[in-house]
Amino acid sequence: MLEFMDVMPSEVILAESPESDRATLDRATLHASLGAAAMESMNLLNEIAGQYPEAISFAAGRPYEGFYDVAQVHEYLRAFCAYLRVERGMTDRQVARTLFQYGDTKGIITELVARNLAVDEGIEVDPGSVVVTVGCQEAMFLVLRALRAGGGDVLLAPRPTYVGLTGAALLADLPVVGVATGPGGIDLDDLVVELRLAREAGRRVRACYVTPDFANPMGVSMDLSARRRLLDIAVAENILLLEDNAYGLFHDGPEGPGETGRPPTLKALDRDKRVVYLGSFAKTGVPGARVGFAVADQRVADGAGGSGLFADELSKIKSMLTVNTSPIAQAVIGGKLLSNDCSMVAANRPETAIYRRNMRQVLDGLTKRLGDAADVSWNVPTGGFFVVLTVPFTVDDDLLEQAAGRFGVLFTPMHHFFGTTAGFRQLRLSISTLEPAQIDEGLDRLTALITERLADVAR
Ligand SMILES: Cc1ncc(COP(=O)(O)O)c(C=O)c1O
Repeated sequence: MLEFMDVMPSEVILAESPESDRATLDRATLHASLGAAAMESMNLLNEIAGQYPEAISFAAGRPYEGFYDVAQVHEYLRAFCAYLRVERGMTDRQVARTLFQYGDTKGIITELVARNLAVDEGIEVDPGSVVVTVGCQEAMFLVLRALRAGGGDVLLAPRPTYVGLTGAALLADLPVVGVATGPGGIDLDDLVVELRLAREAGRRVRACYVTPDFANPMGVSMDLSARRRLLDIAVAENILLLEDNAYGLFHDGPEGPGETGRPPTLKALDRDKRVVYLGSFAKTGVPGARVGFAVADQRVADGAGGSGLFADELSKIKSMLTVNTSPIAQAVIGGKLLSNDCSMVAANRPETAIYRRNMRQVLDGLTKRLGDAADVSWNVPTGGFFVVLTVPFTVDDDLLEQAAGRFGVLFTPMHHFFGTTAGFRQLRLSISTLEPAQIDEGLDRLTALITERLADVAR
């Protein structure tokens, strides 16, 4: 009986429940992730936003919508089909099959992704190391699923961290050990401490997840020396780094990667194949296409004297999860790359200008409105989408409801990025989707809420 329950718990419950409850499943018998607070975050926040459509939203971390034009989708598809004919020598029939049929699990734009990484990031990779995924989200899950082999395995990640990473780790049954975050991103001293503590406790640390550029939610970035030190730690401690670069292009300085402009990615600095690079075309391409990718150029020994690529192991998991990323969606992203000489930096110049303008307006607007407010502070990111505000009162989902209902403004309470239900005096503002007039009005509304709360605290 016990053995049977281990295999098919829900059927046993159905059989043993009283007649009236026969169709009721007990969540305790479902996957443990379904009871975790982090798994509710996205839906809960969308629900509140959906209830108050008139509220000005600093909550959504979505890209700017002002330049959307359906004609672009057709243009990108045409550009990609022309590439298949001209550069890859396909007949019209082969082009049609490439778009209409099931496709290669690793994707049909791996070569264009490799070109894009060379052009925009100075990263040289073989297309065979690239797996195109259904968003960066799938890439995270594939990597975590592959790395989690036994009960003692853990992942290091900054605390607070992106909800999507927390969720992917929960689904992969891989516990996350939090590492402190400072003004320069992940705290490397704490990383070493946590790594050693985990090992002393008998855990096997598989990797450290990190977003060196404009991390979600903190908006903080690592400087070049911190990046180099993190790579040194990875080599010395023999761990992988999972580099998430969803926002790296949206830098407030010169465009190119290098000492004076955007700092180079970890992958560009990686000489020892320590970095698995997780890419997203959600913010830079077309978010609705749901295309991301992993670069996994590590060798995997098969135990019989041979070896293959980590990308091929990820591809095996993908073949059983999503089979392949929609070729039509890949064609749209491939076409956007081809239309911009494979540079998303070039493709995103108008959007980058908007994000810079919005970030400046939000930071200046906060100074103007709340610069003298006691115990209210915020960080000053040099790009990306997010600013974090610290206040002297608890910011929970009830406060968010009040902000939406009474003040007409939305933000994200920071507890969502700590995987808890409350307890933090911080909120995240996203600057990416708003127009200047909305920013001014939204900041006025936010200031009214904060002023009211400050008066309560003072009482
Ligand atoms: C840190 C981080 N990584 C990745 C993504 C994008 O993931 P996807 O490509 O699945 O949309 C986001 C989007 O919110 C993010 O904040």
